[in-house]
Amino acid sequence: MAKDKTIHTCNECGGTSPKWLGKCPHCGAWNTLIESVAHSEGAVKNRFASLAKTAEVAVLADIEATDVERTPTGHEELDRVLGGGIVEGGVVLIGGDPGIGKSTLLLQALDALERGGKKTLYVTGEESGAQVALRSRRLGLERSQVKVLAEIQLEKILATLEAQQPDVAVIDSIQTVYSDQLTSAPGSVAQVRECAAHLTRAAKASGVCIVLVGHVTKEGALAGPRVLEHMVDTVLYFEGDTHSQFRLVRAIKNRFGAVNEIGVFAMTERGLKGVSNPSAIFLSQHAEPVPGSCVMVTLEGTRPMLVEIQALVDSGGPSPRRLSVGLDRDRLAMLLAVLHRHAGVACMDQDVFVNAVGGVRISEPAADLAVMLAITSSLRGKPLPKGFIAFGEVGLAGEVRPAPRGQERLKEAAKLGFSVAVVPKANAPKKPIEGLTIHAVERIEEAMAVVRSLA
Ligand code: TYD
Ligand code: MG
Repeated sequence: MAKDKTIHTCNECGGTSPKWLGKCPHCGAWNTLIESVAHSEGAVKNRFASLAKTAEVAVLADIEATDVERTPTGHEELDRVLGGGIVEGGVVLIGGDPGIGKSTLLLQALDALERGGKKTLYVTGEESGAQVALRSRRLGLERSQVKVLAEIQLEKILATLEAQQPDVAVIDSIQTVYSDQLTSAPGSVAQVRECAAHLTRAAKASGVCIVLVGHVTKEGALAGPRVLEHMVDTVLYFEGDTHSQFRLVRAIKNRFGAVNEIGVFAMTERGLKGVSNPSAIFLSQHAEPVPGSCVMVTLEGTRPMLVEIQALVDSGGPSPRRLSVGLDRDRLAMLLAVLHRHAGVACMDQDVFVNAVGGVRISEPAADLAVMLAITSSLRGKPLPKGFIAFGEVGLAGEVRPAPRGQERLKEAAKLGFSVAVVPKANAPKKPIEGLTIHAVERIEEAMAVVRSLA
């Protein structure tokens, strides 16, 4: 059989070249050729021929619908984002900035799984065994039975997986792994993609659950986890501020559970601890209401959370700035235009800053109303009433649109002691919610009028 060779495939046109070139010889695009392993033609032909005999086609209705079995990791917040736990043969990618707590979380999870009777393997390419041991002591896992392999060569890792047959394996990190079949450097797109593809295949073939750790680079992660998202079953990203004590893990993609689910952890002296009732951490502590602050209820995933939106509007220079942290900046520009046009609130010559407290990122449009009320409050220097919340999407015509599952949001707010709510008309509950006065509005002008009447 002919030996497998490496070829270079263009990302743009799919053309190939035996050697690496700066410019694609087919379409002329620059810097698009990526190395991969080409299986020799004979091998490919034989493989397809043998597969055709074994593959069976079934009628959809005849296939038994079985749900996958999940093994809880013992960390409730991690299980929440995983969709209940790890899945046999599942591949999870977990990304995040360096130092945010990926290794810590996974070591804790592996130890819990090992204690639960699962066979685990922790492959470390970034740290030595001694460093991992040091961390485990710090986490109070002195007697941990987790197996550790300090290795970065793909072929050796695959051989160890084969020999050890673990139930769960963590590869920390995928950027350090390299295959000797490729000449590109470890961490390059070619290596990361090829190694992840091999590991994914190994997971599917043997039933081991593989967790790949990936670093997100500041430049948008070209060689980082982004190129792997389509290959794996579940993609989790760490969010939030490294300076704060809290860490959020969000499910971006999940074949075995809900997306946008958020797990909340606190980094303590002894590792990450789940925060089961996170609402309170996204609110700052104001003794009395302050201008420019409006609390909203966000519902990304399955759990409602209260988040404080802060705005600061201050006179700007000739080209005023619009900055947002945790919220979409283009959406902010749009909301400012709607405020001007439909509610007569002009911020043209003002700097506008908005922030979602606690490092949480809010991508749902239900934040619109709270953002607009916070901006208006800051501009006028008037705080919103005590115990006030608002949510709802605002359209370009100034209409206030309903947010999904409004009842749940309102109940969460009432549970945490909030007393006044401005919400879209369609979200107004049929039965009153105890302790909560609800003002249902259809337009942004109406919302403004309600707020003025409450002051
Ligand atoms: P780490 O898991 O090494 O991050 P990553 O793998 O994502 O790069 O986390 C390291 C940070 O967490 C480091 O700044 C120290 C801190 N830390 C604690 O605060 N408490 C602990 O118990 C541990 C193990 C780490
Ligand atoms: Mg690490």
